[in-house]
Amino acid sequence: MRHLISVEHDLDRARIERIVELATSFEEVGNRPIKKVPALRGRTVLNLFYEVSTRTRSSFELAAKRLSADVVNFAASGSSVEKGESLKDTVLTLNAHKPDAIVVRTPWAGSADLVARWSGAAVVNAGDGKHEHPTQALLDVYTLVRKLGALDGANIWIVGDILHSRVARSNILAFQRMGANVTVAGPPTLIPRDLEKLGCTVRYDIEDLREADVVYALRMQNERIDQPFLPSLREYAKRFQVNGRNLGPRQVLMHPGPVNRGVELSGEVVDSPQAVITAQVEGGVVVRMAVLYELLEGASAPDGAQRTLPTQALHA
Ligand code: NCD
Repeated sequence: MRHLISVEHDLDRARIERIVELATSFEEVGNRPIKKVPALRGRTVLNLFYEVSTRTRSSFELAAKRLSADVVNFAASGSSVEKGESLKDTVLTLNAHKPDAIVVRTPWAGSADLVARWSGAAVVNAGDGKHEHPTQALLDVYTLVRKLGALDGANIWIVGDILHSRVARSNILAFQRMGANVTVAGPPTLIPRDLEKLGCTVRYDIEDLREADVVYALRMQNERIDQPFLPSLREYAKRFQVNGRNLGPRQVLMHPGPVNRGVELSGEVVDSPQAVITAQVEGGVVVRMAVLYELLEGASAPDGAQRTLPTQALHA
């Protein structure tokens, strides 16, 4: 794997399993007093964020640092982007720092792929507009494998604003590749036409939500909504909010964050023991360590480096 741009083109089941396995082997590093291994010493990871981020950006930074890479954080605000520099010119400029990996988030679908063409670095898509967010899908698979053992045959319902969600697209594909049955549910105006072509079931209500083993709620993506898709958030919450009345005690509840409490989820279910939202964030660090390691040190790394067993890297 040279880049990680999309689940669609870059991740088959074997690759997903390999990353989950690697992530599991990195867990132990987070429990050490000194949470660092020398696996990527001397490598440079550039975080290029054109959109706000709490979880994704901090966990990529932590992941790179735990592997001993040097990290450069670039946020569009406060940079020459505000003076009109284009994404291409910014990437060409930052190439001068010779990054080994670029982690990129932008509001534009397809931008991660362009960055991969403009730079010699390995590129990780940390969210490109409404298109994909592959590391979110990987950390969600990882969280579920830890919780359920395997995803084969599991019924996963993804509920909410599917139309504007890059997480929905990546997760539908990744969950299915891992053997799960995926149902998406939301108001008709927030579900893309022809979504069934991806192999999932589409529902316009959540009356049968109890069929789900896993309920994955999505945030209402206000920043991407430029037309009135809904009468109001209150109306949405009335019909689609996951709460104590429609969620059973054995169902696993997930959300990529940030949560709008009182909209897609009620506060009580966010704080309930069945919510694995914090475990998802924890999994984000080890999964991103695994992705960076796989891209820079794996069998297909650009310099043809031999695949080192992570255990060797951990103790080098
Ligand atoms: C998501 C994103 O930005 O795509 N958040 C995340 O990365 N954890 C989902 C969202 O913003 O709703």
